[in-house]
Amino acid sequence: MGPTERKVLTCEQISPEDPQEKNLVMEEDRGILRDRLVRDQIWIATATAIRLRLILLHKTALQTDRPFSLITCRPVLKTKVERSTDSFTMGSKLVASFLVFSVLATVAYAQLSETFYESSCPGGPAKVAEVVTSSIVRDRTLAASLLRLHFHDCFVRGCDASVLLDGPNGEKEAFGNKNSLRGFEVIDDIKRQVEALCPGVVSCADIVALAARDAVVAIRGTNWSVPLGRRDGVVGSAAEANNDLPPPFADFSMLSAMFSRKGLNTRDLVVLSGSHTIGFVSCATMQTRLYNFSSTSATDPTLDPNFANTLKRQCRVGDTTTKIKMDQTKFVDTWDFNFYSNVLRGKALLQSDDALKRNSNSLKIVQQMNRAGSPFNAEFGRAMIKMGQVDVLTGSSGEIRRRCNAIN
Ligand code: HEM
Repeated sequence: MGPTERKVLTCEQISPEDPQEKNLVMEEDRGILRDRLVRDQIWIATATAIRLRLILLHKTALQTDRPFSLITCRPVLKTKVERSTDSFTMGSKLVASFLVFSVLATVAYAQLSETFYESSCPGGPAKVAEVVTSSIVRDRTLAASLLRLHFHDCFVRGCDASVLLDGPNGEKEAFGNKNSLRGFEVIDDIKRQVEALCPGVVSCADIVALAARDAVVAIRGTNWSVPLGRRDGVVGSAAEANNDLPPPFADFSMLSAMFSRKGLNTRDLVVLSGSHTIGFVSCATMQTRLYNFSSTSATDPTLDPNFANTLKRQCRVGDTTTKIKMDQTKFVDTWDFNFYSNVLRGKALLQSDDALKRNSNSLKIVQQMNRAGSPFNAEFGRAMIKMGQVDVLTGSSGEIRRRCNAIN
């Protein structure tokens, strides 16, 4: 049987009584977790129907049943790729690096809620939209940058606003971010205004998630509801960002592996890459593909030759500063599914985008997104909601930063 996906709830210990006991896993055996979650004020209403048995996983892979009350843990939802659903036996799972428990998909989104700030900061989300919209009226190119910011946040240590932290080895210094990621001032501005409304309530991670959505809406793109309640991380790491952010030269297997590490599947990969229908690419990124591709071909042969010449006129040899449009078929950045036809015609700027047609499964999805009546918009919202849940901090984990560029 081929690989399948299942929703799993990993219980990450946050105050280990025994450092040897790294991971805690919950298995079907109802009741205890619900009580615990209620006590920890983690909103997980749909879990009331589920009973859980907790099994402690020792590093040595020895298993011991222990009462849940001994452990403080934070439930984290992930999508896990399984080789075979039939082979889900406790033995094989317990030697895995984290312990899992099969759970209904609805629980997957139970940690976050669209109404999270309804009583604590009712005007917060609207304030985010207001500042995003006025920034984009001033500079339309910020829309793409704000969308990308959320992606780069979520892929490194989860959607915890770690990307915003200043510091010598912070994520802003990573290859994929330095001189490339934009929109930080917009987030800082939003945070100042939201703090003035409700001090210490709205996390920077939620602001980044809302800003990504509001940015797409502001350019008359698609809309989706943003589940909220993320908390902010206290660590940012350039090294981790270098490890977790996919590079522009990634082939399909690399992309697929990097997305699946974050619980995202091929469909999510193809759909989220559709973001590249807006925004800009630096000529620095294009140099290798246009002029220094391989020993046999200076220009990447997968690029349409006429298109390659068009790009070369915009990005001259050695130009590392000019920025060119991701979607070359239009003058103004509009939200549409042109990206997919560009991929199919050898007119995608990034190798990682071209790679989406090099695998039969993802090619099918590219073709589907490219059809008249494309499901792209609806799928995009779904995939953004999923990406926005990657390794989020909730409950009492992390903090609510006072300023987004520094921990409290
Ligand atoms: C699949 C792996 C991906 C790779 C390898 C990738 C890589 C890149 C690169 C190299 C750029 C141009 C940066 C520059 O030259 O300065 C870029 C821009 C962009 N990316 Fe991606 N990206 C990926 C996925 C995504 C996803 C999942 C999203 C959003 C959900 C996204 C949104 C964007 C946007 C909107 C831009 C334009 C940014 C701007 O104009 O400021 N990308 N990406």
